[in-house]
This record gives sequence, structure tokens and C-alpha cells, in this order.
Amino acid sequence: MNPIIKDFSLFNKEQLNTFFPEEKGSLQGKMNRLIHYFISGVWVDEEALFKFAASKPSAKASEFVQGRAVERKVIRIESGMNFKNQTIFESIAEKFGFVMNFIRHPIETGAILPSSTGLAKEIVHNIPKDLNAAPRKIIEIGAGTGVFTAKILKRMNPHDTLTVVEFDPKFCEILRKRYGHIKNVTIIEGDILEHKGKYDYVVSGLPLNAFPAEMVTKFIAKYKDLTNNNGIVSYFQYRFVTAIRKLFMNAKEKANIDSITEQKEEFFARYRFQRNSVYLNVPAAEVLHHRISTHTMGGLM
Ligand SMILES: C[S@@+](CC[C@H](N)C(=O)[O-])C[C@H]1O[C@@H](n2cnc3c(N)ncnc32)[C@H](O)[C@@H]1O
Repeated sequence: MNPIIKDFSLFNKEQLNTFFPEEKGSLQGKMNRLIHYFISGVWVDEEALFKFAASKPSAKASEFVQGRAVERKVIRIESGMNFKNQTIFESIAEKFGFVMNFIRHPIETGAILPSSTGLAKEIVHNIPKDLNAAPRKIIEIGAGTGVFTAKILKRMNPHDTLTVVEFDPKFCEILRKRYGHIKNVTIIEGDILEHKGKYDYVVSGLPLNAFPAEMVTKFIAKYKDLTNNNGIVSYFQYRFVTAIRKLFMNAKEKANIDSITEQKEEFFARYRFQRNSVYLNVPAAEVLHHRISTHTMGGLM
């Protein structure tokens, strides 16, 4: 028989409202309970839940859900790390803003649309969802409108920290609006090449193929410089696009892209770890993961 939650003695009413924010008997309430059931295999008894909501013990909700699938989510809510999901209108407005930015700054923006959630999931998948992990320092470079940021946050614990470095003031405004209230997130409006620090995870959205080759040399050196020993650098690139673009390039542009490809391949060959394709993205993309270790194939450059 499936377990049923009947004892809510570790919740207070406020916490219950955060967890199941609905009126008794509402459709939303039923949906929330169903979702909870599918995630955790535990059915929340409605009568017992609302009978209990009248009393107010003070223990934390996370103590109650210890070991369950929702535990990390509840801990994030308690620590003020949750953020509002976008409405469909906000998402459309944001995509439109991204296109406008691409028109204004095509090289730095490097993509006509924000990345898909499929690509975002892939780029963060090496950050373990582990509540017992030692505090981790994460940096995101070129966050745009924050598609990767959302996925990084969902893998973080309250003691982890995330630094987001984004060049574009308009994108920074969006990032501050969505994530600025979270105390373990720092949003820096500026150039990553000016930034100093050491991190366990470096997640980059920089469009390397769009830059001059000399800039790519600096970005790759920066990735290594920012990474702690055994830290992970993850970035993505579009599939097939370069091959198609090359058909229309002049000799100088071809030399530039060949030099970028060579530099990226050398970086990957030295620190290679994983390379995964994501076809549910416009255009199709691949994510490259590198472990920067002093013991990897000849050590740090
Ligand atoms: C291809 S967009 C990626 C946006 C987002 N990560 C996504 O996948 O939807 C690249 C982003 O990098 C930012 N960028 C470009 N050069 C940068 C630099 N030197 N330092 C920080 N951010 C930079 C751009 O402003 C842009 O938002």
C-alpha cells in the first residue's frame, strides 16, 4: 500500500501554504497533491492536512520531508532561494527582447534566441543534486535572460554560491528582477575577462564561434584561470552551423573560425570529459564538459 501523509505536526500553517498553496477542495490543491504523489510516492491526506493547518507547531517543513524527493525544494523555499516561474507572456516578451539584443549586438549575443530548457538541463547536469555536498562555488558566464541560471539554482543548496557575470545591461536588469532577491546569488554587470575568483563549476554561455580568435584564446585561458583544481568547465556550441556558415565565408573569416575550432579542440583534448548533443534547441547544439585537473594529460597550461 502507498504511504499517506497524515501527520503534519512538523508544519506550521505558513509553511503548509507555501507547500500546498490552495483552498480546501480546490482543483489546484488536488493537482498539487497529485504532483507530490508522483514525485514522492506519498499521498497527502487533505482532511488531515487542513485539520492540522489550524494548529501551529514551529518545526521546519524540511524536517518533515527529510529523505523525500521534495526535500531540496522545501529547503530552497525555506532559505529564500525560490524564484517566480515565468508566465507565457513574460517568456514571449523575453524572447522578443533577446532577438532585439541580437540585432543590436550580434557578436556578443551570439544567438538569435535564448537556449532551450533541454540545453540548460544538459549544461548543468554535472553539478550534483546532493544535499550533503560540501559548499560549492559556481560561476555562470554570459547568462543572457537566465535560462541556465534557473537550472543551476535548482541544483544548488543554501550553502552554495552562484556568481553570474553578464555584459549586457538589459539582460542584467532581467536577471536582477528574477534572481536579485536570492542572497547566495551575486549578479555582476561586466566583462568576464575583468573578473577574478576561483570556482568549482564554470558554466559558460559565451558564443565562442562568434568572436575573433584572439578573444577565444583569452576566454579559454579565463575558463582555466577561474576553475579550482578538479573543477568543471561546461560550455555549448551549435551543431552544423559553422559548417554551413563556412560555405559563405571569405578566406580571413575561414582562418578565424579554423583557429577557434583548433583552440577548442585542443582544450577539449586536454581536459575532455563529456560531449553531449542536444537536438531540442534552435539550432541543435552540443555541450562540452571539461575537468580542469593538474593531473589531466600533462597538467594545467
Ligand atoms: C549566446 S548568449 C547566451 C545566453 C544564455 N546563456 C542562453 O543560453 O540563452 C551569450 C551571452 O554572453 C554575454 N557576453 C558576451 N560577451 C561577454 C563577456 N565578455 N562577459 C560577460 N558576458 C558576455 C552576452 O551579452 C550574451 O548575453
